[in-house]
Amino acid sequence: MLEDLHLSKGTKEEQYQNLLPQIKALLAHETDFIANLANVAAALKEQFGWFWVGFYLVKNEELVLGPFQGPVACTRIKKGKGVCGTSWQQAATIIVPDVELFPGHIACNSLSKSEIVVPIIRGNEVVGVLDVDSDTLNSFDNTDQHYLEEIIASITV
Ligand code: SME
Repeated sequence: MLEDLHLSKGTKEEQYQNLLPQIKALLAHETDFIANLANVAAALKEQFGWFWVGFYLVKNEELVLGPFQGPVACTRIKKGKGVCGTSWQQAATIIVPDVELFPGHIACNSLSKSEIVVPIIRGNEVVGVLDVDSDTLNSFDNTDQHYLEEIIASITV
C-alpha cells in the first residue's frame, strides 16, 4: 500500500488533483469502512493542514464522532442541529464562510472559523458526514465541494 503521501503545493485545484488519485489508491486496497475514513481524514489533514477533519456517523438517530484528525470534538449531534445535523437533514453539502453567522452552529472549538460539511449518502440514506473546519474565515468554496464530494463518493460503505 501507499506508505507516504506525495504532497503538493500549488493552487487548491492542483492540490486536489494531486491528492485524489492517491486517496483512490488507498481506498482501492482496503474494504473496511472505518479504516478508509481514518485514512481519508489523515490524507486531507496532511495535504491541506486544516484545523479539524473528521467524520460523524449516523447511529441510533444521532451523529456520533468517528475517525478524525485534530483537537478533541463534540461526540454526539442531533438531526437538524449545527452544520453537521443540518447537512444530514438536508442530505446536502453545506459551506459556512463564517461559523458565527450560521444559526445553531455547534462550536466544538472556538478556533474554528469556517466549515464545510459533506453528507455520505448511500441508497437514499445519509449514513454519516465529513466535517472540515478551518481556523480562518472563507476557507471553502465550490472547488472543495466538488473534490470532497468525489472523495466521499469513492468510499465504499
Ligand atoms: N461545528 C459542527 C460541529 C462539529 S465540530 O466542528 C468538529 C457543527 O456545527 O455541526
